Amino acid sequence: MPVWAADDQVNYGKYLAEEVAKCADCHTPSVADGKLDQSKYMKGKVMEVQPIETIEHWHKTAPDITPSGRLWTRWGGAEAMKKYLMTGLTPSGRPAGPPMPTYKLKEADAAAIVAFLQTLK
Ligand code: HEC
Repeated sequence: MPVWAADDQVNYGKYLAEEVAKCADCHTPSVADGKLDQSKYMKGKVMEVQPIETIEHWHKTAPDITPSGRLWTRWGGAEAMKKYLMTGLTPSGRPAGPPMPTYKLKEADAAAIVAFLQTLK
């Protein structure tokens, strides 16, 4: 893994989460003008899209992925989140349901996203 200055790692994680993997678009509700609601950033949302054909296990909602959310507590913290982003498997050993993508990120990228998520309330 590259050796990061802490700020650089967080900034890189923010870039991955917002511009590359687009976590924020699916996990943050929008306000009227289509922009993300910054007061609910990564706090989960009801998806505004639905498949035309039936897709098995389709999820209408994306969960809160901030450290204060239930999911983070249930998973037991940062290490589980990092492992998930590296393997695509949740702590129960299964992939998440669609439309959540299955990411198999390099450790440095997964760690950066997690470091960024940890800066959120
Ligand atoms: C295309 C929309 C979309 C994108 C992009 C997206 N998510 Fe999700 N995510 C979802 C939905 C919908 C769920 C609910 C699926 C489920 O619970 O099985 C979800 C579930 C999750 C879960 C819980 C998985 C589970 O099975 O409990 C985590 C953690 C997560 N997302 C993190 C992220 C991170 C981190 C990113 C960016 C690296 C991201 N998501 C990008 C839509 C998305």
